[in-house]
Amino acid sequence: MNLPNRYRCLQTIETPTGPNTQLVSLPLSELTSGEVLIRVHYSSLNYKDGLATQAHRGVIKSLPHTPGIDAAGVILECNSSRFTVGQEVIVTGYELGQSHWGGWSEYIRVPIDWIVPLPAPLTLRQSMVLGTAGFTAAQCVLALQRAGLSSEHGPIVVSGASGGVGCWAVSMLSHLGFQVTAATGKKEANDLLLACGATRVIDRQELVESSRRPMLSARWAGAVDTVGGQILNTILRSTKYGGCVAACGLTAGSDLNMTVFPFILRGVQLAGVASADCPYAHRLEIWQTISSTLLTSLPADMVTEVALEQLLDRVADILAGKISGRVVVRVA
Ligand SMILES: NC(=O)c1ccc[n+]([C@@H]2O[C@H](COP(=O)([O-])OP(=O)(O)OC[C@H]3O[C@@H](n4cnc5c(N)ncnc54)[C@H](OP(=O)(O)O)[C@@H]3O)[C@@H](O)[C@H]2O)c1
Repeated sequence: MNLPNRYRCLQTIETPTGPNTQLVSLPLSELTSGEVLIRVHYSSLNYKDGLATQAHRGVIKSLPHTPGIDAAGVILECNSSRFTVGQEVIVTGYELGQSHWGGWSEYIRVPIDWIVPLPAPLTLRQSMVLGTAGFTAAQCVLALQRAGLSSEHGPIVVSGASGGVGCWAVSMLSHLGFQVTAATGKKEANDLLLACGATRVIDRQELVESSRRPMLSARWAGAVDTVGGQILNTILRSTKYGGCVAACGLTAGSDLNMTVFPFILRGVQLAGVASADCPYAHRLEIWQTISSTLLTSLPADMVTEVALEQLLDRVADILAGKISGRVVVRVA
């Protein structure tokens, strides 16, 4: 196979005025190391990618850096019989787009143990409309099911509902027959969230109760919380006996300052969800579950497709919490 000498990618570099991300052309030999070379067809935009462009120390360790925690494409080089050249694959999480250069790039080199075969009937594009956001939403839904919740138990609230993880959680839960209350800060996302399957849409301010009362009236059978902070605190205090809250995010804050009463008097479970280091065997199962029982589609207005050169326009929006749905990046 004839490989080009150079490839295009977005790179965050250090400048006198701070980190700056731009489209560059680099020698293929400069890719970070890994046994498998992949031609990337699609990537996506996640909140963490926005942080990577700011050189956020919780996400990346050094510059220059290529962001992109998600990539889907075709294998071009692989020395193992586990995969074949030409096979369609997904890479999400692990260190991709963190210590390892990521998917906002025409090519990636990655360790073989990060690679997931694209599960039928997903296409490469669909896998990136899902991306880490859809994968994490699926983990949250599975956590609620593991806690014994089913559609008879009552409403599930999803915070940050118009964001990537949030809209997938709304869509998957509604597909499984749950009553879903979508909490959002965007009035304009109302109709989109109803189209995703939400039964009701509420203003996220309804989930901000700052008194020191250890428990509030029991309202939710469970929750998918993508924002943390005071909203997670309020949800936990408003969850019914035996309920479960799957927590994965921190766009509203990382502190959780509350008493143990919801846990010891109502038996509420707080299920932490961590996608990046999800063990490989479990990761394969989750992708299989997504493609078999959780596969839905988002309303067309919740998916924006951009080319690499247009992606930077969207980065400030995700950091400001302004994007509704998912941004998928067309690379090839
Ligand atoms: N644990 C994991 O493995 C994992 C995996 C993926 C993502 N995450 C985390 O999950 C969170 C969501 O990720 P994402 O990719 O879905 O991000 P996203 O697409 O940017 O969505 C985040 C949403 O949070 C809401 N929001 C933003 N700022 C807020 C604020 N100050 N107060 C309350 N709500 C706010 C907004 O939704 P509304 O306008 O609808 O309220 C926004 O659209 C992030 O913190 C991300 O780092 C964690």
